[in-house]
Amino acid sequence: MVPGITILAIESSCDDTSAAVISDGYVLSNLIANQDIHKAYGGVVPELASRAHQANIIPVVDQALSKAGKSRDDISAVAFTRGPGLLGSLLVGTSFAKGFALVRNLPLIEVNHLQAHVMAHFALEHGRDNRTPGFPFLCLLVSGGHTQLIVMHDHLSMELIGNTIDDAAGEAFDKCAKVIGLPYPGGPVIDMLAADGDPHAFLFAKPRIKGLNFSFSGLKTSFLYFLRDRVREDENFIAGNMNDIAASLQNTIIEILVAKLVRASKETGITEVGIAGGVSANSGLRKAVQKEAAKRGWNLFLPELRYTTDNAAMIGVTAYYKYLRSEFTDHSVVPQARIEM
Ligand code: KG4
Ligand code: ZN
Repeated sequence: MVPGITILAIESSCDDTSAAVISDGYVLSNLIANQDIHKAYGGVVPELASRAHQANIIPVVDQALSKAGKSRDDISAVAFTRGPGLLGSLLVGTSFAKGFALVRNLPLIEVNHLQAHVMAHFALEHGRDNRTPGFPFLCLLVSGGHTQLIVMHDHLSMELIGNTIDDAAGEAFDKCAKVIGLPYPGGPVIDMLAADGDPHAFLFAKPRIKGLNFSFSGLKTSFLYFLRDRVREDENFIAGNMNDIAASLQNTIIEILVAKLVRASKETGITEVGIAGGVSANSGLRKAVQKEAAKRGWNLFLPELRYTTDNAAMIGVTAYYKYLRSEFTDHSVVPQARIEM
């Protein structure tokens, strides 16, 4: 380990403005400003998101530095999310990082948001047992925009072995939640409601997709038609069965995800297994994966809840490994809304 590398990391790909300070791979601070403004619209409004990032970014960075006990002069490099994400949102973080680096003549490090979600498993914290995956590491990345099976061969080398052909798992949670009148983002609300529901109360269509790919658009349609028919018979059906609906929907999504993760482990022979991304906060998914791990002898990695949804710590941890390899970015860099792994 090269001592004394302190990275200021910025994440602004969607609707959370986050800044973190990472020292030698250890997270010293990880601040997140959520944007409640989107709740009223049932989803993220890109233009409002970039304006909120602009308002939040300086205070969030200041707080991240002060919580870490670091000053601007202690920073060795600045990292930012280059993409994928909303262009206007990414632009705020990218511009801030460039400006900060330029003024202090610091190296700039671009980070892929998806890679960072997986790299969250390598975030170290002082005062705890830091258990990190060995390689190869098989990770199910489930977020609002992505559902992927990834094999990590080392800290920075990743192979995509499965992907969704339509919606992401988080999108399935959010869109179905909207159908039953729940606020955005629906995933955490479904999770909460599901705790008091019967996961086998209702059956929804599961996709038949070959190999390691996923599909969630059929489930969304099946959910919509099911409710339409039931509400026709009983207009209070949704309100009267909210917990069972949430639990059954969640169970279907979990079964789709876990079946492919098991298959991926069998096909690759990899038993260092983890989950990452916003949906990896789901309590049902965590339990289901734990059950499979016990059954199959996996060495399982569940991210701390603070590292599941978007955060700058994961950006900083990824950047730390890039710093060690001198993978720096030129100031001509521009954000990229779409980036493949
Ligand atoms: O990783 P993330 O913060 O942003 C993206 O990169 O997309 O993931 C956000 C997604 C949303 O779809 C949200 O509903 C979902 O993660 N999510 C959950 C839970 N917490 C967040 N889904 C199910 N259960 C949860 N507890
Ligand atoms: Zn994300």
